[in-house]
Amino acid sequence: MLGMVNYALQEMVTERLGAEAWESIRVEAEVADRVFVIMKQYPDEVTYRLAGIVAQRMGVGVPDALHAFGHYWMAFAERQPWGKVMHSMASNVRELIPALNEMHSRIALSFPGVTMPQFRCDDAEGGSLLVHYFSPRPGLAPFVQGVLEGIGAMYGETIEVDQVEYKDRGASHDVFRIRFPAAAA
Ligand code: HEM
Repeated sequence: MLGMVNYALQEMVTERLGAEAWESIRVEAEVADRVFVIMKQYPDEVTYRLAGIVAQRMGVGVPDALHAFGHYWMAFAERQPWGKVMHSMASNVRELIPALNEMHSRIALSFPGVTMPQFRCDDAEGGSLLVHYFSPRPGLAPFVQGVLEGIGAMYGETIEVDQVEYKDRGASHDVFRIRFPAAAA
């Protein structure tokens, strides 16, 4: 995973638990870099190992820690130069979700060799959206749920996100439903 992702995790932990807590997590995870290099690629194993230790320190399970990190990631990513790319492509939740592949592809041009997720977006009943998520990486569905909720927060829209298909329970991939309660009222 790109250092950018690990760096965001480092920033979240430092904000919430303090710099000393991060330092001890870094040592326990046997990460040599004191600060992650944003453009460098690190083995995925580093991110998973860190997520496990961070969850322990936060006193929650790994899925809850990844969910919290998904929220944080959205706010972090928006502050990066690519936040402008995102805003140039969409101005609300309904516009951004179908644009996620194109957005990640554009970002990937700057980072040859990254493995970006893939999404498919279908209109569903009651004006809801079904978001299909594809990735070779396991266990990141709670992160996706958090990022999707974070998109609603970023645009100041009230949305409800539920996971409706689970890859780790035998489905071919994870699927999320986004409801727009204000639009339905
Ligand atoms: C400006 C906003 C965003 C930026 C700059 C960004 C960038 C990135 C980068 C650099 C990675 C790491 C890929 C790698 O190292 O192999 C990544 C992964 C990921 N991104 Fe985004 N992203 C953004 C928004 C979003 C949004 C809105 C979603 C919605 C769900 C999303 C979902 C994911 C997921 C799930 C991954 C984990 C990789 C995987 O599933 O295999 N990202 N993104």
